[in-house]
Amino acid sequence: MLKLRVSLASLVVLGWVAAVQAQDLRTLFGTHQPGFNVSLVLPGDPAFANDTRPFNLRFDFEPAAVAFPATAQEVSKVIKLGQLVNHQVVARSGGHSYIANALGGKDGAIVIDMRNFQAITVDDTAGTAVIEVGNRLGDIISALAAHGRGLPHGTCPYVGFGGHAAYGGFGFTSRLWGLTVDAILSIDVVLANGTITTVSEKNHPDLFFALRGSGASFGIATAYTMRTFPAPPTATIFSYNWQFTASGAAAFLASYQSFVLSTPLPPTFGAEIVITPGNVQGNVSIGLAGGWYAPLDQLNSTLGPFFATVPAPRAMSFDTGDYLHSAINLAGGSLDTKDQPDNTDTFYAKSLMTPQGAPMSGKALQAFMDVVANEGFTTDVGWFFQAELFGGRNSAINAVKTGATAFSRRDSLFTIQFYASSKGNVPPYPESGFTFLDHVVNSIVDNSPPNWDYGAYTNYIDDRLIDWQRRYYSTNYPRLRRLKDLYDPRGTFTFPTSIQV
Ligand SMILES: Cc1cc2nc3c(=O)[nH]c(=O)nc-3n(C[C@H](O)[C@H](O)[C@H](O)COP(=O)(O)OP(=O)(O)OC[C@H]3O[C@@H](n4cnc5c(N)ncnc54)[C@H](O)[C@@H]3O)c2cc1C
Ligand SMILES: *[C@@H]1O[C@H](CO)[C@@H](O)[C@H](O)[C@H]1NC(C)=O
Ligand SMILES: *[C@@H]1O[C@H](CO)[C@@H](O)[C@H](O)[C@H]1NC(C)=O
Ligand SMILES: *[C@@H]1O[C@H](CO)[C@@H](O)[C@H](O)[C@H]1NC(C)=O
Ligand SMILES: *[C@@H]1O[C@H](CO)[C@@H](O)[C@H](O)[C@H]1NC(C)=O
Ligand SMILES: *[C@@H]1O[C@H](CO)[C@@H](O)[C@H](O)[C@H]1NC(C)=O
Repeated sequence: MLKLRVSLASLVVLGWVAAVQAQDLRTLFGTHQPGFNVSLVLPGDPAFANDTRPFNLRFDFEPAAVAFPATAQEVSKVIKLGQLVNHQVVARSGGHSYIANALGGKDGAIVIDMRNFQAITVDDTAGTAVIEVGNRLGDIISALAAHGRGLPHGTCPYVGFGGHAAYGGFGFTSRLWGLTVDAILSIDVVLANGTITTVSEKNHPDLFFALRGSGASFGIATAYTMRTFPAPPTATIFSYNWQFTASGAAAFLASYQSFVLSTPLPPTFGAEIVITPGNVQGNVSIGLAGGWYAPLDQLNSTLGPFFATVPAPRAMSFDTGDYLHSAINLAGGSLDTKDQPDNTDTFYAKSLMTPQGAPMSGKALQAFMDVVANEGFTTDVGWFFQAELFGGRNSAINAVKTGATAFSRRDSLFTIQFYASSKGNVPPYPESGFTFLDHVVNSIVDNSPPNWDYGAYTNYIDDRLIDWQRRYYSTNYPRLRRLKDLYDPRGTFTFPTSIQV
């Protein structure tokens, strides 16, 4: 037990690492740290359940404490205190990790909740913005649009910047502007030893590499200095929809895949294929949806050669306006995250990034669509799959070299997300939801060459992915391991799929 008058220094000298009870943690974080005023929520506190609720209710972790620092100095102090009592320390920004990694991915972590880091400072002359990590994507879009600027990132307004920018960040502007990690100029970060620093191409370039794709393993970011881009004057959110038999759907996907591989697609084309249950067993619903950041008539001429090879869509829609209008459309009508809290879900998701140099075979696509049209119709989970276009010619994502950032899969054509929710979106998540998604992904992998070098997407993080080192980090993993030994030798930042010490 922690004695009331014990100083931090003497604890260090004694090497005190015993399990610490909630009340002791309050003492440790409280009165014994002169000038240290970080609010803390502990198990048993009225706010604890709300403050530790993950987006994905498949998980229910109990952290040892949640701290709410407001400065980098306070973040540093909490990291050091966490080490002192031998707890894992983890940052939480928007709390939207698919596997509740911002709660530590297990019980007993000390969570550093970054919600107080809310500033956004735009520099019009430099075309940059300093964005603190507690901002949600919706807030960032609004703040930048007021200056006629934008950034590449995902569509959900509630996703937090801290986690998004730590791992990737894909949206329909990504073929044009890259991933969120590609627009980072420098990162204000607190390292595992408590050092507060700013890393960039010039200062600690090795950490700058690691933080752009495996950020949470190497530090707690407080702010990102971002390059911004002029908001396109016109943008269209489009959607085309079809109903196919399984073999019709496989032929459609093969045709789309060869179109995006062979055409000099402009970078203003951002798209995903959306796969949902068919209206009868044996059928599949397919959508082609995306953002087009140029005049609308040029979209028609771009897609013309593809439409000549597939049946006419059953339905289509186009919503044209300025860039802000397009972001509001993708956000589902509002960018405001303060009005009401985000809802939660109970789900499992897998991902598969297909190599551009080894596209999916006709056999793999047929097997994929057979599972979707049959087991996908009878399964008791609600699901959707999205094949996001990362590649194709002229993609800014793949213009970055594999070794330049920890985000490693720079040779992908599609990032396919497989997402399935429990009935009513509440726990428990059924076992059949895991097996269904396993069958779907295996239908593709098992019908591809044995050495098929596919990847997985770090922001659709998967707690059941066995060979995640290779799938997420490819040839960059050995370098990341060496950097982990250098910057976090004690493994203070350890959680499922963290870079191993
Ligand atoms: C509804 C929904 C829609 C999504 N849409 C997209 C999309 O369109 N495109 C896309 O690319 N992704 C998308 N995602 C995935 C999303 O990008 C990731 O879940 C992202 O990591 C969430 O960031 P967060 O800050 O909200 O999450 P958190 O749960 O807070 O954090 C996620 C991870 O990052 C770490 N982390 C958080 N803050 C920091 C920090 N300051 N410093 C270091 N590490 C930190 C956490 O410890 C954790 O490991 C979506 C997710 C959801 C739930
Ligand atoms: C501590 O922080 C709270 C708000 O988080 C503030 O109300 C209080 O005045 C602060 N106390 C000191 C001593 O700074
Ligand atoms: C619950 O937690 C969320 C963040 O996860 C926060 O925005 C909200 O204010 C909290 N609500 C209450 C009632 O404390
Ligand atoms: C913390 O680690 C950084 C990076 O290795 C190093 O530059 C710094 O000197 C270390 N600080 C302390 C107090 O050990
Ligand atoms: C199933 O898809 C086929 C091919 O598009 C279509 O002809 C048929 O009408 C669909 N079935 C239903 C019930 O819509
Ligand atoms: C684009 O094509 C669709 C049908 O293919 C048509 O409905 C729409 O009017 C066209 N838009 C323009 C601007 O040509």
